[in-house]
Amino acid sequence: MEPETSTENEVEQGSKEAVLTARRSFVGILVGVGTAAVGALLAVPLVRFALYPLFARATNTGLSDLGSVDSFSNLSAPLQKMISISQRDGWRESVSEKPVYVVKDAQGRLKVLSTVCPHLGCEVPWNTQKQQFFCPCHGSAFAADGTRIAGPTPRGLDSLDTTVQNGHLMVRYQYFRQLVPDKEVVG
Ligand code: FES
Repeated sequence: MEPETSTENEVEQGSKEAVLTARRSFVGILVGVGTAAVGALLAVPLVRFALYPLFARATNTGLSDLGSVDSFSNLSAPLQKMISISQRDGWRESVSEKPVYVVKDAQGRLKVLSTVCPHLGCEVPWNTQKQQFFCPCHGSAFAADGTRIAGPTPRGLDSLDTTVQNGHLMVRYQYFRQLVPDKEVVG
């Protein structure tokens, strides 16, 4: 009878160890899953911070100085000015030169126009002979104050936001959606 009792004890001991091992691996899995979940939660803000510039639109937030307001007092035709704008695109910050036109509206107030055609984005110069802004790409024409005259453009030339600081005319350069009748800022 002695050997049988010993075998039973061994079997009992074996099954206890099997239960303990199963418990240990279950707890191990729980700890692993918990750690991974906490790690993922902590990583989200870091990943968003690192990738934000990739998905952010190119932006320009600065004002550009066009010169003293007095220097435009005798303005009789649209005057082209080049401005430097700095843009952030992803991680890259670049400075580029953009043409704008300073014009007068019907009431004689100063206004600054983008030269980007609202049709498909070609650059629109002032044509002295025609006394119009004339787009070389598809023939859209605009009056001296930027209003649409003819062609496939869905609207007139876009005016840019301006302000006067210390007697200087300042402009904020922006881009607008093309092919839509109403002005809509895109960047
Ligand atoms: Fe100016 Fe088409 S891009 S008319």
